[in-house]
Amino acid sequence: MSHGLLKGKKGIIFGALNEQSIAWKAALKAREEGAELVLTNTPLSLRLGTMDQLAEQCNALVVPADATSVEDLEGLVDKAMEHFGGQIDFVLHSVGMSPNIRKNKPYEYTNYDFFFKTLDISALSLHKVLGVLYKKDALKEWGSVVALSYIAAQRTFEGYNDMADAKALLESIARSFGLLYGKKAHVRVNTISQSPTRTSAGSGISGMEDMFAYADALSPLGNASASDCADYIVTLFSDLTKHVTMQNLYHDGGFSSTGLNAEVVETYTKGLKKD
Ligand SMILES: NC(=O)c1ccc[n+]([C@@H]2O[C@H](COP(=O)([O-])OP(=O)(O)OC[C@H]3O[C@@H](n4cnc5c(N)ncnc54)[C@H](O)[C@@H]3O)[C@@H](O)[C@H]2O)c1
Repeated sequence: MSHGLLKGKKGIIFGALNEQSIAWKAALKAREEGAELVLTNTPLSLRLGTMDQLAEQCNALVVPADATSVEDLEGLVDKAMEHFGGQIDFVLHSVGMSPNIRKNKPYEYTNYDFFFKTLDISALSLHKVLGVLYKKDALKEWGSVVALSYIAAQRTFEGYNDMADAKALLESIARSFGLLYGKKAHVRVNTISQSPTRTSAGSGISGMEDMFAYADALSPLGNASASDCADYIVTLFSDLTKHVTMQNLYHDGGFSSTGLNAEVVETYTKGLKKD
């Protein structure tokens, strides 16, 4: 059911690869709430993925761009502003990739060229996106930028590898730019720290299924799905959250605040007694 929360708003959405992607669900939800959209991803992802279907469903313009290329980002923002006939209300940065994880390089044996790539794609790209928007004065007053993070930025999750460092940097960039863009044009910048979610990016993490089950059991509300995340994203693009900025917002069913959950301990101790 639509509430018209984004009626008349125009936004760019990065990172819809396939139907599982958080960005895919967010695009559908934003459209349902009345937004006009430009969708973007790398040329390779556009070839491998199914974003054309989404573009048709959302009546959106597709503009290929590598989020690590300032030149591509400048072209993207110019095309989006031309398409919308003016400034942009919101941007979703739903981008992440670690070559170290892809190539099964453990953290202690990291490949530093890969590490730089992880940081560039998964964190610096947010700086580049915000930098281009800022310099082109592309966002409207009270605009909103959201990027997706994970709790491994605060606490160590074995197997999350160099993505943990990238997420810590991503959250810091959101705060630093949130200050500057807030002063310039009341633009808010936040990160959402999402539950483990079954997507292409998620499935690359070692032990993802166990991590998913553990987080689901520990969280009093269970894991938040990609669709739940899309709902939350839309609220942050809406005018109902105008003074929320420079925050890392947990969207994780309570996982981040739970120390001990009796049922999880019982399952663990039962397992020990069997051994
Ligand atoms: N899946 C999870 O468990 C989970 C949990 C918390 C946060 N997140 C974050 O959510 C975001 C979206 O991931 P997802 O789970 O929807 O997976 P996904 O694989 O569907 O999305 C990741 C996207 O990043 C894009 N991308 C990679 N390199 C890029 C580049 N150079 N330029 C532009 N785009 C590029 C990919 O093409 C893809 O569309 C990521 O930041 C991810 O780290 C995911």
